[in-house]
Amino acid sequence: MARGHALGLANDSAGPPIFAKATTGRTLRWAAERSQRDHCHQEMRATATAQLTRRGVVIVCATFMNRHPHVAVVGATGAVGIEMIKTLEKRNFPVGKLTLLASARSVGKKLKFKGQDIAVTELTKDSFAGIDIALFSAGGSISKEYAPIAAKAGCVVVDNSSAFRQDDNVPLVVPEINAADVKWHKGIIANPNCTTAITLMALYPLHQAFGVKRVFASSYQAVSGTGAKAIEELRRQVGEIVAGKPATKEVYPHQIAFNVLPHVDSFLPTGYTKEEMKMENEGRKIMHHPGFRASVTCVRVPVYRSHSIAVSAEFEKPVSVEAARAVLKKAPGLDVVDEPENKKYPMPLFTSEQYNCEVGRIRKDCALDNGLCFWVSGDQLLKGAALNAVQIAEELIK
Ligand code: A2P
Repeated sequence: MARGHALGLANDSAGPPIFAKATTGRTLRWAAERSQRDHCHQEMRATATAQLTRRGVVIVCATFMNRHPHVAVVGATGAVGIEMIKTLEKRNFPVGKLTLLASARSVGKKLKFKGQDIAVTELTKDSFAGIDIALFSAGGSISKEYAPIAAKAGCVVVDNSSAFRQDDNVPLVVPEINAADVKWHKGIIANPNCTTAITLMALYPLHQAFGVKRVFASSYQAVSGTGAKAIEELRRQVGEIVAGKPATKEVYPHQIAFNVLPHVDSFLPTGYTKEEMKMENEGRKIMHHPGFRASVTCVRVPVYRSHSIAVSAEFEKPVSVEAARAVLKKAPGLDVVDEPENKKYPMPLFTSEQYNCEVGRIRKDCALDNGLCFWVSGDQLLKGAALNAVQIAEELIK
């Protein structure tokens, strides 16, 4: 059965193909013939696209996607993997079959999906036969090793790690911003960094209206962004400290309970961390804005769930609070919570387990020309990971 991704007849490794033209009768006919040849008896949607490479060669790709795909979650037992399973169920994604993959340690575990117990199986090189869409969240090294294997087996990978985000052949997608980029995938689509995705939910609509030049930002990142072991570390340290015992450390270099760590990801020679540079690098790619600049300080805070970001943004055009608020109120996936006089502003406690991000504390930046300050908070396990990945999968079956 034909599954998965685009079949390129020609390729240009110089960069992502420039999306040129959607379906034509001829390419659709070719797609239909191909689907018959591969005995696609199930409900299939064939989308044919013509692409123009940078050298000007027209290539034809056809994407076949089962409308009731066999979905795999790689890293199913992890903090994000569990949310992926829940999100597939809650959004009623038309899963034909669900395969749950993790390390050998988890073999024998069972996880619930739509009332059924599904056994976790070990991730191996042979795991991807028959799978249409694989949602990966098992860390960068697993993605680097297994995502190309999965793509080669005909599966479309939605990868939550940073392994492929800057690869010119891999779209990096926030569906509310650049859903069309899903179309030029070659088997792997990258899910963005959680802090970047949540920030862009508010920044991108403002960029469309006023043209963002640069941002200065600080993040307040929850421990669940580090994974299940970090959630346990915060819980354990709180218990130890309350009991008057010294805090034990396994995940973070310092105590995280009753502390904040200005250290997320590894340090670069510039003094920034890798996490801090993702806002600029990924923001440029997602917003199609190569001149975008971002100076960020990322901070881990003793919060279980939901990241928050304080942003000062400078725009090309003058921006008033009223105009910004009008733009943000219409933005998809975003709620404006901005009544400081009533003590109403976004907080991680209340954005946890919510699909929408929240923006508030909207005010003119007193130190920048055409500047605006705002505070955005969102569930990084959802919009920053599982929800965004499932939304990308939804784009694939449209
Ligand atoms: P496991 O639970 O079997 O270790 P988190 O980000 O919350 O730490 O979760 C990481 C996820 O990645 C878990 O599901 C974990 O499975 C999975 N994982 C880690 N190492 C491997 C591996 N070598 N092969 C497959 N899955 C892995």
